[in-house]
Amino acid sequence: MSRAIGQASGMTELTNEQIAETLIYPYLNHAVKFLQDEYATATDIDNGMRFGCGYPVGPLAYLDGVGAAVVRDALAARFAQTGDSLHKPVALLEKIADQGGTFHGSVDAEGATAPELKHDIAKIGVIGTGTMASGIAQVFAQAGYDVVVVGRSEGKLDGVVGYVGKNLDRAIAKGKATEDDKAAVLGRLAGACERSALTEVDLAIEAIVEDLAIKTELFAELDAILKPGAILATTTSSLPITRLAETTQRPGDVIGMHFFNPAPVMKLVEIVTTTHTTADVDETVKALTAKVGKVGVSCGDRAGFIVNALLFPYLNDAVKLAEAGLGPATIDAAVKEQVSLPMGPFELLDVVGNDVSLAIEKELYAEFKEPGLAPAATLERKVGEGKLGRKTGEGFHTY
Ligand code: CAA
Repeated sequence: MSRAIGQASGMTELTNEQIAETLIYPYLNHAVKFLQDEYATATDIDNGMRFGCGYPVGPLAYLDGVGAAVVRDALAARFAQTGDSLHKPVALLEKIADQGGTFHGSVDAEGATAPELKHDIAKIGVIGTGTMASGIAQVFAQAGYDVVVVGRSEGKLDGVVGYVGKNLDRAIAKGKATEDDKAAVLGRLAGACERSALTEVDLAIEAIVEDLAIKTELFAELDAILKPGAILATTTSSLPITRLAETTQRPGDVIGMHFFNPAPVMKLVEIVTTTHTTADVDETVKALTAKVGKVGVSCGDRAGFIVNALLFPYLNDAVKLAEAGLGPATIDAAVKEQVSLPMGPFELLDVVGNDVSLAIEKELYAEFKEPGLAPAATLERKVGEGKLGRKTGEGFHTY
């Protein structure tokens, strides 16, 4: 049986450099595995982490900087200690290390032409009123689109307007927007409690609770309401989009557009196609993503897509390292100092929400069945205690 992350000797006496290596090297190995599996291109893997999580460089470019052999050797030594298969250097890492090569120099295929809008997109529907739905509505309204937000009550719709207004007030205070800009953006936002308000939209984005039964019911209803040819997108981070597509009569028009939190700031959209998604819909969504100022990366319908599948094992490892006796603040500071990430793992867990993180980690564990991906006991405990992060005032840190 493999040992837990903290059971390798002396974890509480690690230097900042060792803490960062302990957490970052398995993440780099994992990124190479994605490339090896041809799940995504090197550019999309790196862009995912840069624009989804604000990392200064993506994992493969980072590996090129440090040297594949350095990381391979450190991981091999670690694997000898832990026996955790996630620490075993993957074959492509071994190969590039042996060749003294680089990931971007040798493996990437680029040169695609800019995508074009194959469908007319003028009016956007957003279903949901939570943080992600509000942020997504803001992104499209700011880019000049008319947006209709469908929520369960007037109060929840008011919350969306409040969220967008507050963000714009912050921009005004910084001199980055004017009162006129704010009025124009809010003027493009309409709210409705009835889904029938979506009959005229060209693209509907669903951002409701992560529950497959509730989403499939919604997709079946949207399929009946939306006009023919309208694109039906979901921003799910963890549920199978193929299942949602197959509840509709238009599986070719169903696609994933996975935005990141906070959506108005994080530039990434993971564009997730299923085997049913048509090439025109894929290209239109890519073009639209660029038009609203975001960076799109392409990936298939697999748990965690690119970013969450790389990010959450690393966050989970950080919790396991804390279980070995290191303080969350120490780990946060070490990672920020050593690899210049915008937030330490515990700060980010508290932003995402421990409940959301636990759900994503369970999905990853269920799909990839790696013992090392089993959610850390402390994360389960925090959720059980209602310590979900910023939204409850306490998670790994107190707010
Ligand atoms: N909503 C809207 N705008 C926000 C915001 C919010 N909640 N928080 C910050 N901003 C804006 C600020 O107004 C500021 O805008 P300008 O540059 O135009 O002035 C900008 O973001 C930077 O903010 P600050 O200077 O106040 O703070 P910062 O420099 O610490 O940056 C951050 C904040 C951008 C959030 C940064 O910490 C970061 O990049 N963190 C990483 C977040 C991350 O990894 N997100 C992905 C989580 S995983 C996920 O979302 C997927 C999933 O399925 C769960």
